[in-house]
Amino acid sequence: MIIAIDGPAASGKGTLGRKLATHYRFHHLDTGLLYRGVAARLLADGAPLDDREAAHRAACDLDIADLDATRLRTAELGEGASIIAAYPAVRLALLELQRDFARRAPGAVLDGRDIGSVVCPHADCKLFVTASAEERARRRAREFAAMGAGPSYEAVLADIQRRDARDGTRSNAPLVMASDAVLLDTTKLDIEAALQAAIDIVDGSANLAQG
Ligand code: CDP
Repeated sequence: MIIAIDGPAASGKGTLGRKLATHYRFHHLDTGLLYRGVAARLLADGAPLDDREAAHRAACDLDIADLDATRLRTAELGEGASIIAAYPAVRLALLELQRDFARRAPGAVLDGRDIGSVVCPHADCKLFVTASAEERARRRAREFAAMGAGPSYEAVLADIQRRDARDGTRSNAPLVMASDAVLLDTTKLDIEAALQAAIDIVDGSANLAQG
């Protein structure tokens, strides 16, 4: 069973993905970490983010087991990830790795931007998780503050709006809601309410599949 979760930056899809995976005892892959991992490799090697060859090599060499979420969830790497994620060769290099993960038994939850549209178009259940840009910026600013001194709310909002625009307009695998995805707007939902809504959607689609 494959659950695909897509949505814009800081929509809560990562937290939902993790909690859904725990609920169903499935594997979970936050695919944003793959793109963050590629950006981190370039920065560590002193390569500029517009070096497409170096980005492609970093994507080919990436090992899921090496991805350290705590180290990768910085604002700088979010921005860097969004830049290198627009390169078709990088996306292609990461595709099979994601599809292999999706085949893990007894099931997998993958979250990202193009899971329901490109990586797993035949997923059993597709969720498109969103929230207003202001609410997403508030949540992300709170996360950064909890990690130590973070960027201001205004800076986070500007970053989110820039990334929304870049992710939504790139020609290769832009952020789109798959036609068979269910929209979950979490603007007014806390995480427990969002989780319950997501479980209801997944259980509903599993019932549909059975009968
Ligand atoms: O957590 P947040 O939503 O801020 O970002 P993320 O999910 O870690 O993704 C960082 C960047 O990677 C995004 O802005 C996208 O440009 C890119 N990405 C992508 O293109 N495709 C995915 N499946 C996941 C992330």
